[in-house]
Amino acid sequence: MSNDNPQDVLFETFKLGNLALPNRVLMSPLTRSRSSQPGDVPNDMNAEYYQQRASAGLIISEATQVSPQGKGYAFTPGIHSKEQIAGWKKVTDAVHHSGGRIHLQLWHVGRISHTDLQPDGRKPVAPSAIAPEGAKTYVSADSGMVDIAEPRALETDEIAGIVEQFRTGAENAKAAGFDGVEVHAANGYLLDQFLKSGSNHRTDEYGGSAENRAKLTLMVTQAAIDVWGKENVGIRVSPTGSFNAMYDEDPLETYTVLAKHLNDLGVAYIEVVEDSFQGNHANGRPESVIDAIQANFKGRYIANGAYTAEEARRRISAGRCDLVTFGRPFIANPDLPERFRQDAPLNEWDDSTFYGGDAKGYTDYPALAEQKATA
Ligand SMILES: Cc1cc2nc3c(=O)[nH]c(=O)nc-3n(C[C@H](O)[C@H](O)[C@H](O)COP(=O)(O)O)c2cc1C
Repeated sequence: MSNDNPQDVLFETFKLGNLALPNRVLMSPLTRSRSSQPGDVPNDMNAEYYQQRASAGLIISEATQVSPQGKGYAFTPGIHSKEQIAGWKKVTDAVHHSGGRIHLQLWHVGRISHTDLQPDGRKPVAPSAIAPEGAKTYVSADSGMVDIAEPRALETDEIAGIVEQFRTGAENAKAAGFDGVEVHAANGYLLDQFLKSGSNHRTDEYGGSAENRAKLTLMVTQAAIDVWGKENVGIRVSPTGSFNAMYDEDPLETYTVLAKHLNDLGVAYIEVVEDSFQGNHANGRPESVIDAIQANFKGRYIANGAYTAEEARRRISAGRCDLVTFGRPFIANPDLPERFRQDAPLNEWDDSTFYGGDAKGYTDYPALAEQKATA
């Protein structure tokens, strides 16, 4: 299907919270580990990269640590210092200048970190002192991938401080000119560690039942709403994801409970990682969990994971999702919506340049117009 078809659902305008999106082809959060050091500060090259992708219906930024404790990999950007706010302002200005919209993904990695990355070399924190078996990180340009050790379980009276880290991140995102925030509760990081039974063995009010495991995520989401208003807040979850050694014994129940409460809070959207090359316990998309989320959450449902334009059109038309985020295709195709519109060939991504490095594999993927000019 191409541009000649006026019925192409991907190019219908769409209201998401307070934003009017020009299309349903969204850019998913993508860590690229190219912030300036020291200080984890977004720079001009990062602004150029996001500006190149401003035709996305909405850009969701790479995961951005809300505090020094929330950092888990070398070179990822933060949103807790004045310099980082100023760096992100360059990014949001560039995206807005090109007519785009951008949310910041608020991130605390929890146990997926390393003493070399933590303030004063302390142990990373988590719901429970359980090492993520087989999970790895990188702590410098030449460290290679390193193992992740057993974390320290957060004390009950430390939970309020975690919520405040996210609140400050949300406030700073506002100062940096974003259009909204996405709470990162997916892919094995701190909030996901609390949500899932495999990583949360707590015996206080934040562990045990699905209600209790959902509490921290809901407190953080409420803090983001306090700052931004519910229309400008979304959340990302990965109910069946296995990346970072994750496992939940009953995702149907866990995510039914979470969806109900998120519905009460009134957030604009839930973005669901339905499938991922990073690992999934489900065979394909977890349709029953998707059904349960949609039955209990009346906001917008954003789908992610291994989507093609064709499957996105099909599932939007069938009412299985409202919008779709694309990850790796957006890395390699800065003008992804236009390529979908024209049914044009896609550039292939180079996974050796996903994380870290310079402009190679970052800002040098050509748009169609440039390819035609040099053809
Ligand atoms: C290089 C890279 C970095 C990623 N960084 C993030 C991230 O910062 N936050 C997040 O929630 N997901 C992250 N993901 C997961 C993607 O957002 C997405 O869920 C995944 O790539 C599946 O979508 P796709 O098949 O369209 O690529 C990352 C994926 C890749 C390839």
